[in-house]
Amino acid sequence: MKDPMMKRYQERVKRVIRQLAEEDAALVLSTPAAIRQSRGVMVPFRQESDLSYLTGFKGHDLTVVITGKDKKITFLAPKQNPQRILWEGKDLDFKPIARALNAEVVESDQIEPEVLKRLKGVNRLYYQSRPNSIGNQIAAKLFALDSYVRGNYPAHFSAADALLAPMRLVKSPEEVSLIIKAGEITNEALYAIMPLMVAGTAEAEIKETLEFVFRSCGGEVAFDSIVASGKNAAVLHYHRAESKLKRGDMVLLDCGAALGGYASDISRTIPVHGEFTDHQLVVYEAVYRAQRAAIKAVRPGVAISVIYRAAALELITGLKRLGLLKGTSSSLYKQGKFKEFFPHGIGHSLGLDVHDVGELRGNNQAVLSEGMVITIEPGLYFSKQFKQLPACGVRIEDDVLVTRNGARILSEGFPKDAQELIGLFQ
Ligand code: GLY
Ligand code: MN
Ligand code: MN
Repeated sequence: MKDPMMKRYQERVKRVIRQLAEEDAALVLSTPAAIRQSRGVMVPFRQESDLSYLTGFKGHDLTVVITGKDKKITFLAPKQNPQRILWEGKDLDFKPIARALNAEVVESDQIEPEVLKRLKGVNRLYYQSRPNSIGNQIAAKLFALDSYVRGNYPAHFSAADALLAPMRLVKSPEEVSLIIKAGEITNEALYAIMPLMVAGTAEAEIKETLEFVFRSCGGEVAFDSIVASGKNAAVLHYHRAESKLKRGDMVLLDCGAALGGYASDISRTIPVHGEFTDHQLVVYEAVYRAQRAAIKAVRPGVAISVIYRAAALELITGLKRLGLLKGTSSSLYKQGKFKEFFPHGIGHSLGLDVHDVGELRGNNQAVLSEGMVITIEPGLYFSKQFKQLPACGVRIEDDVLVTRNGARILSEGFPKDAQELIGLFQ
């Protein structure tokens, strides 16, 4: 079947060629090497996101070389290996994609020399930062050569991110629609686990149920789901799922289905049996208010620091209400005391990767533009009991599109309002 995204891949490749031509550069992308988990058992394969973004190819063993000056695209692949076909079946066919992109196909068991041949006379090489990718290996070898030995091979090297991240950060309508649909599957899974929100349920059963629903709805598991009850939720990325739910616990669920490669990433925090204590409710309300304040601040041209601050001020108000912080909110913000309870950023870009491209996650000065999809995920975490508040964690996370004038929440569907949440138990 023809990939409905093919027109997009063609546009993206054309844009890459135009940019490469400006600096007489080449881009080399390759699928990840098969990784062994143990004797004869392989780690499940996941396509490299940049390669997916430019070609839509989901299979193994492909290297793509794009050169700007001669506007050439080459697909390089090893010759078919009958042993592998016997054990794993035929790999996906990249030839229809090569035809649609007007790419030359070279089948060879000597990929590196074939790539090098195409890099002669090229000024700059864009390579993947993944250490064992072909582009990375070639860049490292060329970089180590003295210039008189390197000859007319590339002498300048840039991470492929520099070229592709600005493109991947701004989503097309099709990408947004896949993220919305992935979110719908995630929300369906959250509804499906509601009957399990009772004392005695194993976190592992909830995790498996979430992921079962993702897969049975035609999605994939975008990342290892977090199901953290009670004090486990104070571990930001708690993956063990080894406890059982207890009465009086809140359960932090951070999970996401992916669809067509595009991830959703949703967090909800649900009290066991629908029972919040007063102190838990103060924490929950503070996080929910923080999320609303942060989403309200989202619009093009705004720096992440502004969104983070909007959330942090609400979290500080909650921490003051609990008696954990004292002072004016602005001085507490400046002093950063709240960071003990909110030790992570406000969110990250979302797309083919859960923590998608760009610097929104690490750089508070990064600025939003229309078409970006980001997560907004404030949280409060208490690794120790404080007065009547037992060790716990609350995070509320949604996926948000930056629109021309503000924000559109893409992952709505499962309640966040405390009374609505409690209502699900009735
Ligand atoms: N699910 C990981 C995160 O929210 O960043
Ligand atoms: Mn997230
Ligand atoms: Mn998450």
